[in-house]
Amino acid sequence: MEFVLNGAPVSVPSEGTLLSALRDRLGVRSAKDGCAPQGQCGCCTVLVDGEPRVACVTPVSRVAGRVVTTLEGVDDDVRQGWADALCATGGSQCGFCTPGIIVRLLDVEPVKADVERALLAHMCRCTGWQTIVEAAVDRPQRRERDLDAAAERARIEGGASQRVAPHVALGRGGFADDSAPSDSLVAILAPSGERVVASSVSEARQLAGVVPGRRSTVGLTWPIDVPDDRQHEFVRTLRTTWVEPAYLEPDAVWCVPGGEPVGPLTNGGAFGGKTTQWLRDEARRLADEHDRPMRIVLSREDVVRRSAKRPPLAAGVRANGSGVLWVRTTPGVRELVATVAHDWEVIEVDVPGPPTSLGLRAAVWAEIAVLKASVTDHDRVFAPNGAWAEASSSGDGVSVRVGCGDALDDVTLRSYCIGAAHMALGWVRNEGIAVDARGTVHDLTIRSFGVLRAVDTPAIHIEVVDDGSAVRNVSDAVFAAVAAAEWRRAEFAPRWPCARDGR
Ligand code: FES
Ligand code: FES
Repeated sequence: MEFVLNGAPVSVPSEGTLLSALRDRLGVRSAKDGCAPQGQCGCCTVLVDGEPRVACVTPVSRVAGRVVTTLEGVDDDVRQGWADALCATGGSQCGFCTPGIIVRLLDVEPVKADVERALLAHMCRCTGWQTIVEAAVDRPQRRERDLDAAAERARIEGGASQRVAPHVALGRGGFADDSAPSDSLVAILAPSGERVVASSVSEARQLAGVVPGRRSTVGLTWPIDVPDDRQHEFVRTLRTTWVEPAYLEPDAVWCVPGGEPVGPLTNGGAFGGKTTQWLRDEARRLADEHDRPMRIVLSREDVVRRSAKRPPLAAGVRANGSGVLWVRTTPGVRELVATVAHDWEVIEVDVPGPPTSLGLRAAVWAEIAVLKASVTDHDRVFAPNGAWAEASSSGDGVSVRVGCGDALDDVTLRSYCIGAAHMALGWVRNEGIAVDARGTVHDLTIRSFGVLRAVDTPAIHIEVVDDGSAVRNVSDAVFAAVAAAEWRRAEFAPRWPCARDGR
């Protein structure tokens, strides 16, 4: 079948989705696969006859004879204007979500309410929305900045190599699945756990019989509680549930026969969620076995089932700031707590569920910091690295002060702090995924994670104080400080997320 792509006629097989045709057959890289075929993240948004459409739920057969425009086909000046504006505000960090957002916003009035409404069709996990809205409304132009220093700040905050430049907003930050050789085969995981290999993602999914995940009707659970006979020891207690890190770029790796695997971390740290050595081993094995370049891409459902989560826990704090932590058994947790809070006792609890890791943003120490802050009058939270953040949360929004040495680049530091604040607000109020008593994860869709939408995100104000200290990560301290402030605002509700019931 034929259609017009970015002004030129193209011909592709009529099976599968428009997204698979664009990425696997036609070499388009701006349209990303963040959740296909859920149609919930907006990363694959393109124009069909001038209207925004999510390509992952559009059968390619439906665009026969029509005009499809991806970000590559947008007028050069317009595209560059968006890239410059987003870079100028810090509105694109990893950049995975940004091409789809730009395509969506092309015809949206530069008015905050209109932009926020348009963003309802999208998901961004990095930025916390505010800097995207600023880019869309204010449209700042490129200004002189030291982008190497910006990239260094991004690396420090993201915990992995990260580029900062206008082209990142165009989706060219260097994602593993974008750089795979065009003649690669693609492997996915079948529901049985088998690897299914085909020439395109659509074909592999069809062969594997993959059915898209759904938001389940199973409720959230708080798998650990403070034992009744110890409740009296504490001024305050907190229980947390399973939370999805929700990085937008699904884990992907490619490898040529006899070569070194590429991926999964190529632009951004995924908040500590990606630790997929097994994918690299698999890509190498399958490339050698098939004697062809091989891509492996995890579906969103597989990412949720397999990616590490912060360990759920129950904890109590005493008036003097000491406390006890009952935490899902997780390697290194005793050592961590001994380092950051030597007057806290740790009791590991076996709970069935997905893997847990202390690599996730400020895992466990943020929970302890939040509990300690709740029994003191001061709101300054120190991270284990010595960086600090103070936060307050009210009906007017969230205000944060941070100290972490030289900012290196104000825009980038502010953007990462806003992103961390947004993640903390979601953690306290709204985020969680259902995991049943057998440990099976039920919420497999992007929309079920509870990430705060742009329209629900308050204004976040960041003040950076150069306290003369060494340059270091501070977004983790922001995360903890904003969580502490938001918990205070929620009157120390004893379990998170506090704005959601079991379902
Ligand atoms: S990949 Fe299409 S909406 Fe997420
Ligand atoms: S910049 Fe939006 S998901 Fe990373």
